[in-house]
Amino acid sequence: MDLIDKLVSRQAAVGVIGLGYVGLPLAVEFADAGFDVIGVDVSKEKVDQINSGHNYIRDVEDERLAKVVNSGKLRATTDYDVVRALDAVSICVPTPLSKSREPDITHILRACNEIAQRMHRPMLIVLESTSYPGTTQELVLPILEKSGLKVGSDFFLAFSPERVDPGNASFNTQNTPKIIGGISPLCTETASALYSQAVKELVPVSNAMAAEMVKLLENTFRAINIGAINEMAIICHQLGVDVWEIIEAAKTKPFGFMPFYPGPGLGGHCIPIDPLYLSWKMRKLNYRTRFIELADQVNSAMPRYVVGRIVELLNQRKIPINGARILILGITYKRDIDDTRESPALSIIEELLELEGNISYHDPYVPELEYNSVELTSAELTADMLAEQDIVVVITDHSSYDWPFIVEYSKLILDTRNGVANSGDPTKVVRL
Ligand SMILES: NC(=O)c1ccc[n+]([C@@H]2O[C@H](COP(=O)([O-])OP(=O)(O)OC[C@H]3O[C@@H](n4cnc5c(N)ncnc54)[C@H](O)[C@@H]3O)[C@@H](O)[C@H]2O)c1
Repeated sequence: MDLIDKLVSRQAAVGVIGLGYVGLPLAVEFADAGFDVIGVDVSKEKVDQINSGHNYIRDVEDERLAKVVNSGKLRATTDYDVVRALDAVSICVPTPLSKSREPDITHILRACNEIAQRMHRPMLIVLESTSYPGTTQELVLPILEKSGLKVGSDFFLAFSPERVDPGNASFNTQNTPKIIGGISPLCTETASALYSQAVKELVPVSNAMAAEMVKLLENTFRAINIGAINEMAIICHQLGVDVWEIIEAAKTKPFGFMPFYPGPGLGGHCIPIDPLYLSWKMRKLNYRTRFIELADQVNSAMPRYVVGRIVELLNQRKIPINGARILILGITYKRDIDDTRESPALSIIEELLELEGNISYHDPYVPELEYNSVELTSAELTADMLAEQDIVVVITDHSSYDWPFIVEYSKLILDTRNGVANSGDPTKVVRL
């Protein structure tokens, strides 16, 4: 049977490499669509959890995972040998930054080398991990062709960026339009044959680099606009106006304005990282991406700005930071998720500890925090606990927080998210 027919009739065996925030929801979607799906991950712990039907990604419903595992439609392994029997593979491995803040593509390299050793014809391979423009054509393709197989005839290669927004109740893998760009038109067509079975709307683009660039445009757009509004928050504070009031009023304009909100800094595996993949690539081409670098400077200075505001507020009350009791509310990088990767809360806590503040935190989604030399457990949020604090700092405005209760028992609150909003007593709630 022709590969496209096998994909369209959902008789293909599909592999998902990397079973994290992106890979696991995708694997469940493919399995639910009727494909036989095998997930491959280097983490034995994750593999064991999946095979026992245990879910570890909040955006995946427990029952859906249990259903596809129990029916035998999804299983996981650490052994790449399964690739020999797969018709299609989606690669969803991490693409972090190195210590020198340059692209760390080692996970993509490892995954592609493992696949190349076990490739056969015909096969579809799709890279989903966000990376710099040219990754699919210049990096992935030569590795896969080491197998001796030819792209466009023996195997089909495409880039299709994941756009998942963790914690978003309205949009998920299935109903978020999917960009697809192949190395050749037949590669795009073959990848579309797979994804159209599990995703409602596909957006084919002219080639793999165009698909890579779409993802980078989306996330660079966010990083730059968040950088601009963070700077606006600093400006408004200096002018003595309330940035939140200004945004609310500005967004009544029915055209030409889109609200972005300031905060304690960027977090997560995408917005703080992806634009730097693009600026790195452009540096290689002798071009400096000034907007990206400026937004990065502003955004990465926000945690230190928040620490400065804490010191200033305590100082106004004649309380030295050394020994001050400070409670951080919410340490994940955004509301209602359990992910602390790149969260600004981490560097804020570290800096406050260096200043010898007496720091505790509460987060309903993170019972324990281990980060560099920081080891803390989430405190119980009681009236007494709040009353003992010199300042409570809202870093993540989880929707489960009972703001009137928090405001009632706290002496002073710095709210970096406008979470307390108008439910606060203006004499004790200070906004970013
Ligand atoms: N998290 C998001 O919101 C999001 C959104 C869109 C795109 N992305 C992109 O998707 C990619 C994956 O991100 P994520 O958040 O799912 O990461 P993650 O860390 O949650 O998951 C990645 C998984 O890959 C596994 N892995 C690492 N190296 C491997 C290898 N060589 N072989 C097999 N498995 C391996 C890890 O053990 C982990 O389970 C990244 O490029 C990221 O930029 C993430």
